[in-house]
Amino acid sequence: MAYFERVAVVGAGTMGNGIAQTFAQHGSHVTLIDIDAKSLEKGLANIRASLDKFASKGTITKEDADAAFGRVLGVPSLSNAQYCQLVVEAVVEREDVKAKVFGELDRVTDASCILATNTSSISITKIAASTKRPDKVIGMHFMNPVPLMKLVEVIRGQETSDATTKTVVECSSALGKTPVEASDYPGFVSNRVLMPMINEAVFCLMEGVSTREGIDTVMKLGMNHPMGPLALADLIGLDVCLDILNVLHDGLGDPKYRPCPLLKRMVAAGRLGRKSKKGFYDY
Ligand code: CAA
Repeated sequence: MAYFERVAVVGAGTMGNGIAQTFAQHGSHVTLIDIDAKSLEKGLANIRASLDKFASKGTITKEDADAAFGRVLGVPSLSNAQYCQLVVEAVVEREDVKAKVFGELDRVTDASCILATNTSSISITKIAASTKRPDKVIGMHFMNPVPLMKLVEVIRGQETSDATTKTVVECSSALGKTPVEASDYPGFVSNRVLMPMINEAVFCLMEGVSTREGIDTVMKLGMNHPMGPLALADLIGLDVCLDILNVLHDGLGDPKYRPCPLLKRMVAAGRLGRKSKKGFYDY
């Protein structure tokens, strides 16, 4: 039985469609909301492809894959979140956009509904301040690719209640993930540790310490990382990495978080990683 009968996910991009799929695979009826019809279509296609991949590998049965897909409904409007018990927001990493989405979700959902954000670095406390229920606003930070990655970083804002935290921790476990609690400081734990490593790898490339393959191979074979930091940056998106480093730099005020000039230059050139087919590698 699903932990929550009805869940809404806002934003059908890489993270949003992965989150929607994960809830659907665990029995929830998921309303996947995106105002952009193309994004919605692509998000649903990704869910179908990922479920088919799992079925072809025998991880799940074809019937379970079809049933999970049947539990996802793609819609264009936030008002469709009305009857949900949990909403997970996964829209673009911009404070103004998230504030607008949360203000609207606060109006359209029942007062008991928990409003979670998948933000990778924006303050939960600030996002919560755009609602009248900051005790029910929380960070639920999934990792990419969501259907495969075991972690959910659960971030309490200043006003997040114990009850909300307990519910989200239990719900994350029910999804087969391992929840880890973190406090609301810039980058939480995951990106405060990960992004300086990626940034340092870009400095190594810029300074000619080694080639892209050399840097990635050192971290793969020397430290047993599943992928090198430059390939991982391409997976995450170089623009996302730059945004997060700026949040760390501004929020913690320490020059050690300054984004590498090469990273800035690549983003300016539109080399954003896998999504633009060009990053540190070509796709
Ligand atoms: N659904 C279903 N199957 C998937 C999938 C998905 N979404 N994504 C990949 N797979 C499948 C692949 O198709 C592949 O299947 P085959 O074996 O049949 O070919 C299988 O999973 C393994 O994939 P790969 O062969 O490509 O390579 P891999 O063994 O290295 O696994 C990986 C891929 C799981 C992504 C692994 O490389 C990994 O763990 N990388 C690190 C990822 C990571 O660090 N993520 C966190 C990023 S940070 C973040 O998300 C948060 C933030 O705020 C920035």
